[in-house]
Amino acid sequence: MHEVTAAAARPLRTIGDLPGPRPLPLLGNLLQLHMEQVHQDMERWSERYGAMFRLRLPGTTFLVVSDHELVAQVLRERPATFRRPSVTAAVAAEMGGIPGVFEAEGAAWRNQRRMVMQAFAPHAVKAYFPSLAMVAQRLRRRWQAAADSGATLDLGAELRLYTVDVIAGLAFGTDVNTIETGDNAMQRQLDEILPAVARRSFSPFPYWRYVKLPRDRQLDRVVVALHQAVNGLMEQAKDRMRTEPALAAQPRNMLEAMLAAAAQPDSGVSERDVAGNVLTMLLAGEDTTSNSLAWLIYLLQRHPEALRRARDEVLRVAPDMAALTIAQMDGLDFVDACAQEAMRLKPAAPYIPVEALVDTVVGDVAVPKGTLVWCVLRKHSVDDAYFPDAGSFDPQRWLAPDVNKKVAMPFGAGPRTCPGRYLALLEIKVAMAMLLANFEIVSVGTAGGGAPTEVMGFVMEPEALRMRLRSLAPR
Ligand code: HEM
Repeated sequence: MHEVTAAAARPLRTIGDLPGPRPLPLLGNLLQLHMEQVHQDMERWSERYGAMFRLRLPGTTFLVVSDHELVAQVLRERPATFRRPSVTAAVAAEMGGIPGVFEAEGAAWRNQRRMVMQAFAPHAVKAYFPSLAMVAQRLRRRWQAAADSGATLDLGAELRLYTVDVIAGLAFGTDVNTIETGDNAMQRQLDEILPAVARRSFSPFPYWRYVKLPRDRQLDRVVVALHQAVNGLMEQAKDRMRTEPALAAQPRNMLEAMLAAAAQPDSGVSERDVAGNVLTMLLAGEDTTSNSLAWLIYLLQRHPEALRRARDEVLRVAPDMAALTIAQMDGLDFVDACAQEAMRLKPAAPYIPVEALVDTVVGDVAVPKGTLVWCVLRKHSVDDAYFPDAGSFDPQRWLAPDVNKKVAMPFGAGPRTCPGRYLALLEIKVAMAMLLANFEIVSVGTAGGGAPTEVMGFVMEPEALRMRLRSLAPR
């Protein structure tokens, strides 16, 4: 038996011994869960029932863990003791998905992770930086036009244009330029696929296996179209690499880097794995980053002192959008602290579910093989015991020497921690440098004027935010 903590001298509890919300016969706690606020349901119950509680759903019982040390240990015990839930992989496979590093397990995951990490190597991200800055320049021009005409921007949609252009450029070297064309088939396809994976993973009954509703048939069409697009990009990249063999040593984008890595004799990965990971990068890199940025902009605008300090830093360190460098971005310490603080309060992934591969122990609880363990990430990270005045937005805390950086885990933890985290923070800093150096934020808020509701889809989004900007400098 694997043990997540050193065995306690006292007898182990079973999951059945744990407290939890009262279940109904057959349905368990299903009717008490609110799909779009499931993260808050779990956080509220963690408050009420403690660091570990049980939750029953039809045919399965979850162990819910919110103590950050236990969560970190569970996440570290991958891939041997825990895996991502098999239901998610099954839903993705059924939708025709090709497993990338996010869905892969065991030896396949190790090989894919190695290949993906080569594509995220610092020199690779550095080579890509000018394209990232160019995408931000386009967004600046678009926002400039909106500021000039007094238009109101749909913040979430604007930021998605930015992250799709960045990821598409990085992942397969294509300048899709959704910012200037305003439309991108691939983005629309992703927008349909991501919520469907989340929806089906939670569905108590897999009705689509027996009868397909119009939206299921539409989903099938979208998946086929996306695969065709990725296959086309793969063929183009292979052609380029055939005519320019030097690209294998100096790839210009992730697709080339992964094809080169896959071509090595002992790589353990195939071209199909490369295709799966191109899709994975698109799926994992779009909404996570755009929503983290949306929350950050919203929170900063509500904290004028932090906003002023962030703007001062940008104007001092990186005032000229036309000449941004990675070194300047690395020097934006306060902006970085603002991003950490926004992700502490509003993590794109407020929980990570995993499944036990073997009989194991978490804390003092025996966890049988196959049990689903729901790791709540936003509990201690918003607890005064770990962050003084934890409910307030205070970026300065991240610059204090004694800040505990292990309690909040916006990028997960352990061997499967997010490989895109450096790139994501770079994208966030470039976007903030562009925004703060060029615009005053006149307003950001919901249509009703209240605090934005947290909506859980594939990631935790704010309800629709509208933003108005004014130019700082006349152009
Ligand atoms: C602010 C933006 C982002 C956030 C908050 C975020 C968060 C996360 C989290 C919580 C996980 C799960 C980690 C775990 O299981 O321990 C993850 C995994 C992953 N992320 Fe990100 N992510 C972001 C941006 C990106 C970007 C830009 C990319 C790629 C271009 C990316 C690619 C991935 C991949 C491939 C995985 C799966 C890794 C594995 O299973 O080995 N992410 N991310």
